[in-house]
Amino acid sequence: MKEQLLAIRKSAEEKLVSLTSLQELEDVRVSVLGKKGELTQVLRQMGALSAEERPIIGALANEVREAIESALSERKTVLLAKAREEKLAKEVIDVTMAGKKPEIGGLHPITKVLDEVKNIFLGMGFSIAEGPDVELDYYNFEALNIPKEHPARDTQDTFYVSDNVVLRTQTSPMQIRVMEKAKPPIRIIAPGRVYRSDAVDATHSPVFHQIEGLVVDKGITMADLKGTLEQFIKSLYGQDAKIRLRPHHFPFTEPSAEVDVSCFVCGGKGCRVCKGEGFIEILGAGMVHPDVLRRCNIDPDEYSGFAFGLGLERIVMRRMNIDDMRHLYENDVRFLKQF
Ligand code: DAH
Repeated sequence: MKEQLLAIRKSAEEKLVSLTSLQELEDVRVSVLGKKGELTQVLRQMGALSAEERPIIGALANEVREAIESALSERKTVLLAKAREEKLAKEVIDVTMAGKKPEIGGLHPITKVLDEVKNIFLGMGFSIAEGPDVELDYYNFEALNIPKEHPARDTQDTFYVSDNVVLRTQTSPMQIRVMEKAKPPIRIIAPGRVYRSDAVDATHSPVFHQIEGLVVDKGITMADLKGTLEQFIKSLYGQDAKIRLRPHHFPFTEPSAEVDVSCFVCGGKGCRVCKGEGFIEILGAGMVHPDVLRRCNIDPDEYSGFAFGLGLERIVMRRMNIDDMRHLYENDVRFLKQF
């Protein structure tokens, strides 16, 4: 029996040296120390030994088991360390390799130009007013001298939520909303989305943006309007830019004008972009109609004001050299990345 025990120990130790995985190690453990393992089988035969032999063999069996157990655990430590090293080697990161650049978005060209415009007017002492896109017919039309049957409604057809509620066709209703609440002096711009029943083409969209301007105070004249717009245009397009006022009609201003800016391509000589005119129309403006002031409880004998409304998309297109308005709404990243 003694030989058997020593043989088991020797063979176990040999197997341990050559095995390479934790699974193989476990197999060895089971085959030697397990319930049906070699050592266990031998110990089962102890009963057949004499009283003198039993303690001797018993002690040897314990010694053999302890030796095998400690050899197993030693080998296990080595194998675990080896497995860990292999894993680390496999997962090694080359920190000198070029990384992946995260895609960072940017502001939309409309937002960028709007921010520029806002800054120019803030610099001239204006503040910014905002109002609803879904507007009362009263503010969008009625209070601006455009009653129900007025022909001006034809060119500004829109989505009627009900008889009295529309998607605003212009930012001009903000003039009324501001004047109803604030006492002069008033100096605001009101940027926002407007809606019209227009078909989409290179220069039209059923949803676009306007920036309204309103100044009301004692002694405001057409010269203030002209000076303010001139200052604005020069800040936006450079000192060489010129404006030109042409008489026009708007129901809520008197007198009214359309304002052109010198062509950004030819500088006023006339070219394809300005269709030979040298100037391009960018906004409508005028002196606030006395009836409009009166409707907001502002006495037209004491106060006067000017107002203007400009199309933001036109300015963006001019500023960024964009030839088709549709580009601004198609969310094509290849286009938007250029600004
Ligand atoms: N709201 C006008 C439009 O959409 C533009 C306009 C003209 C605004 C004259 C004004 C103004 O404030 O005084 O056509």
